[in-house]
Amino acid sequence: MTVCGAVVAASGCSALAQHVLHNGKAAVAAASLPWQNPALSADERAAMVLKEMTLDEKIELLHGNGMPGWGAPQPNAYLGNGGAGFVLGIPRLGLPFIQMSDAAYGVRSSAENGRYSTALPSNLASAASWDPQAACDYGALIGRELRAQGYNMTLGGGTNLTREPRNGRTFEYLGEDPVLAGTLDGNRIKCEQAQHVVGDIKHYAVNDQESGRNEVNSIIDKRAMREGDLLAFEIGIKLGDPAAVMCSYNAVNGDFACENRYLLTEVLRDDFHFKGFVLSDWGGTHSTVKASHAGLDNEEPLDDFYGAKLKEAVQSGVIPMAELDEHVRHMLRGEFASGIVDDPIKKSVVDVEGGLETSRRIAERSTVLLKNTHAVLPLDRTQIHSIAVIGANADMGMMSGGGSAQVDPPGRPAGKWQDHVWFPTSPLKAVEAKAPGAQVSFASGKNVEEAAALAKRSDVALVFAYQWTSEGMDLPNLSLPDGQDALIAAVAKANPKTIVVLETGTAVTMPWVDQVSGVVEAWYAGSKGADAVANVLFGDVNPSAKLPMTFPRSDADLPHPSLVVPPPGAQGKEAVMRTGEAKPTFSVKYDDGLKVGYKWYDAENKPVLFPFGYGLSYTTYGYSDLRVTGGHEPTVRFTVKNTGSRAGAEVAEIYAALPAGSGEPPKRLVGWSKVQLNPGESKEVSVSIDPKYLSIYDVAQNGWKLLPGGYTILVGGSSEALDLKQTVQLQ
Ligand code: BGC
Repeated sequence: MTVCGAVVAASGCSALAQHVLHNGKAAVAAASLPWQNPALSADERAAMVLKEMTLDEKIELLHGNGMPGWGAPQPNAYLGNGGAGFVLGIPRLGLPFIQMSDAAYGVRSSAENGRYSTALPSNLASAASWDPQAACDYGALIGRELRAQGYNMTLGGGTNLTREPRNGRTFEYLGEDPVLAGTLDGNRIKCEQAQHVVGDIKHYAVNDQESGRNEVNSIIDKRAMREGDLLAFEIGIKLGDPAAVMCSYNAVNGDFACENRYLLTEVLRDDFHFKGFVLSDWGGTHSTVKASHAGLDNEEPLDDFYGAKLKEAVQSGVIPMAELDEHVRHMLRGEFASGIVDDPIKKSVVDVEGGLETSRRIAERSTVLLKNTHAVLPLDRTQIHSIAVIGANADMGMMSGGGSAQVDPPGRPAGKWQDHVWFPTSPLKAVEAKAPGAQVSFASGKNVEEAAALAKRSDVALVFAYQWTSEGMDLPNLSLPDGQDALIAAVAKANPKTIVVLETGTAVTMPWVDQVSGVVEAWYAGSKGADAVANVLFGDVNPSAKLPMTFPRSDADLPHPSLVVPPPGAQGKEAVMRTGEAKPTFSVKYDDGLKVGYKWYDAENKPVLFPFGYGLSYTTYGYSDLRVTGGHEPTVRFTVKNTGSRAGAEVAEIYAALPAGSGEPPKRLVGWSKVQLNPGESKEVSVSIDPKYLSIYDVAQNGWKLLPGGYTILVGGSSEALDLKQTVQLQ
């Protein structure tokens, strides 16, 4: 210990030294330490530091130091950066602070901290782009803005599958298919971490609803878990190599996720070969010994179990030093591998214009055209003289998703937890800018007759409809709230040239769908949402996005027609600790098993409103010449042609039907390619299929297995438009 002023509780170094390191100034002295040699591997460097550490220093790395607003302020709270948590640095070893921020679709709490962040379209929106490059741009932007704001770790990377579409966090995730979600998240993480921030993937695992999330036991069979929910994580970890995994609040098959040995060790370490550290969701740690044995490395946001209790357990031998060292090694490895040791944080100014440009571009690629009767879209500026813009706040802004993902609008803190936040991107102004010669009028829709009358005297009516969702809540059903179904029906009755633009966090039902001419799914579209939507509506951008989740006809068609909610008395810490040991208090049984999303509707023969993978364009595409070659690692080749008159990008989707008797749903996504095509142009597409995507998880043998038999490869523009088909025998 060199400098000692105010003593940091439970810390082996002084507050002043911490502060100096925090500002990057200790890096000079630390540069001479042998592990500060970037030519060595992260594992070698971690092993060298570990040998030098005292027990107190080790413990220091394994817990957080509080979060603003989470219980009483901690004595060292001033060392934080305004984010969700931080781990102290160790100056004498040259280890930096880990400053963490939520950053699902942008860096959280920026205005609150006197800063600024870009809001990207929601994660679900970005999944609709089916575009790995867009996912990379998304991650890189967040990585840059995190560092500019003084953070070196993201808490983003939500990858839970949409098993329960009413889940209030669906907008933070990447849809219902593991290959799509995992691939996009992996690309996002890779590019985010390349900015030298610790990348994260969460919430591991099967945290598929918010209702009773801290008490619920997700019951699911191993095969369904491995082929579904966990496959998304497996792919994300393989492609993105994140330095951190956040375990979730819920229990899985009886054990809380942050003390679940099957999840944290057998699967994550032994099968996925994950090398970084596991941190608990905030308050998701329930024990010291059980959690440590199971594989939890870091408790957040405090040290209830991983502070004095952990030290005591090690000193008394209940937790072997070797086990503690493994946790520390994971932390150190993550720090070195992500580059945060070699590249200390330097605060800077966010590139505002560049961020807005990226946000708009991703929004344009994520906006799904769902219905376009008689080519009502794109709007023809030369023919349209009057436009009605209808919808709550459609003059002011667009909806964003709430909870810890919430990004602050420029210069304005988001307000209280779960306030509804409208981003200042005005659909009315964006439409006016596109059609300067037309009369553009606005009605909020509060008065339905007035809105219908405006629609009647306009050439076209644009209704901007919203559905607000957030962490910490689920939707009671998938209907649009606040009487918007009735508003849309009335407007459509007054003017059949009605186009509905949806700002939603998940699927919605559309009882009015047959009465309107157009439907555009804009999701939560981010800082530049209105410009992106206007570019699509007026044809400056040809839509190319496809649904990353099924839109069902009604809640009655879902695997659980009613949301499973905790029974009375089943919520809260007291209920969980009733027996003296943490136990979940109620269960949700995922007996839909392998049948997640489209696999459910396929297997159950239930017609849907809009299928997975569906989305229209202003041009048309033709598919031909399917050839599947190559045995166990097949290559799928086919031709896509732009048969219309506009340039566009088509997401060409590849599915496989597994051999009869495999016990699998009728088909699964195994690959895709997004192809850019000029009018009349054809391209040959070639996609090699990862054999794992054709395999089943064999529970008896604890491994993936490619079953011998006939595999039908299906290719086309949506999960329900698969015109090309070829069956191949795999032995
Ligand atoms: C959320 C996490 C988040 C954490 C820190 C928790 O309530 O579930 O996703 O990262 O808070 O804000």
